[in-house]
Amino acid sequence: MADTRTATLTIDGTTYELPIRSPTAGPDVIDITKLYAQTGVFTHDPGFTSTSSCDSSITFIDGDKGELLHRGYPIDQLAMKSHFLEVCYLLLYGELPDAATLEEFEFTITHHTMIHEQMHNFFRGFRRDAHPMATMVGVVGAMSAFYHDSTDITDPRQREIASHRLIAKLPTIAAMAYKYSIGQPFVYPRNDIDYAANFLRMCFAVPAEEYKVDPILSRAMDRIFTLHADHEQNASTSTVRLAASSGANPFACIAAGIACLWGPAHGGANQACLEMLREIGSPNRIPEFIERAKDKDDPFRLMGFGHRVYKNFDPRAKVMKESADEVLDLLGVDNNPTLQVAKELERVALEDPYFVEKKLYPNVDFYSGIILDAIGFPTSMFTPIFAVARTVGWVSQWKEMIADPALKIGRPRQLYTGETLRDYVEIEDR
Ligand code: SDX
Repeated sequence: MADTRTATLTIDGTTYELPIRSPTAGPDVIDITKLYAQTGVFTHDPGFTSTSSCDSSITFIDGDKGELLHRGYPIDQLAMKSHFLEVCYLLLYGELPDAATLEEFEFTITHHTMIHEQMHNFFRGFRRDAHPMATMVGVVGAMSAFYHDSTDITDPRQREIASHRLIAKLPTIAAMAYKYSIGQPFVYPRNDIDYAANFLRMCFAVPAEEYKVDPILSRAMDRIFTLHADHEQNASTSTVRLAASSGANPFACIAAGIACLWGPAHGGANQACLEMLREIGSPNRIPEFIERAKDKDDPFRLMGFGHRVYKNFDPRAKVMKESADEVLDLLGVDNNPTLQVAKELERVALEDPYFVEKKLYPNVDFYSGIILDAIGFPTSMFTPIFAVARTVGWVSQWKEMIADPALKIGRPRQLYTGETLRDYVEIEDR
């Protein structure tokens, strides 16, 4: 049944009725698409704390319940029962695939994992000590120079091929960025092992000996990919959508998403969090850092804590915490000092009135670095791994947006606080 409810707005004695739209889950929205035309005023919401930017049916987060659904399926069930490529199919197409469809999808992704041989030259243009995210932004953006047959966004088949290429090639590019940074030769993907195992092999195999993927690490890697796959209209997804609204090609849009994810307030937090846990070093230094996090004059924040939407536990952090225990236990790494500090920091923070009152809980980045460190990655690879996983979310949201007949270029307005009109002053008169 169509919504007939309205919100009433009165400005200087004139009353306006604004339509209210109801979602299938979550808060109602007030549709302000005609507000400026009707009233001559803008809404103002830097940081988009109260603003819905689009219609989407891919992911839903209930921040109060600590619930995350992908096409209606809860993240904890997907993390424990599904696997990353099946979740990729679900995000891209909206339903869980049957066995034959899944096999065909996995075959397709597997056979797109190599990159054009000439792209290897791009890596050699970077310093060896370049952050792998810098390399990934550059190389992914350059994909538009090589895959011209999937840049016409008006062609649904080209959109699908571009999506498959991006999901398939990001692990290869991330692994090559890592190999380049440590001076080791690139390792080509293989078609006889799964997505997560392929990524581990491309990162850790060397030509001098056979590399056998540890199934424990491969399962942990796959679960980390699943937990990072998509997350509504977060900063990097919104960046991809805004870039795509101008009609830019998919590779350029995903490169923009990678650039945004790099920030320490967003995807860069996993690297910053592990570095923070190492700086804390032992539980007896935790009070010092808790006080710094609460000090308004200190820019320090507890990395891996807090979230714009979750005002309860981030469900991904719960699964990640269980996985950290499991992986370290299976690897025989007991009493990992960083994990001990993390668990004690979580306990102390969750009992502290400041964190309780501001509803600050561990987020997806709090425990992920501990697992990635146990698998053998340097902290500089943590955000690239986040980017590999989030690529499916970015391309799914991109596809949804481009297919929307109501698509318009994103062009926010502003609250202008600068000088009003004034005439130029000759230099001799200044
Ligand atoms: C991700 O959007 C997504 O979905 C992102 C993500 C995804 O999957 O895409 O979930 C991935 O980016 C997770 C978040 C990773 N970032 C960090 O862990 C960095 C540390 N966290 C903070 O920077 C912060 O919590 C944010 C950026 C995550 C959220 O910032 P908001 O929503 O803008 O909240 P805020 O900065 O307005 O904070 C509200 C209050 C403030 O105090 P007051 O000004 O009200 O007095 O809480 C305080 C903040 O100072 N606060 C913190 C804190 N986070 C918020 N204080 C200490 N430590 C923190 N971590």
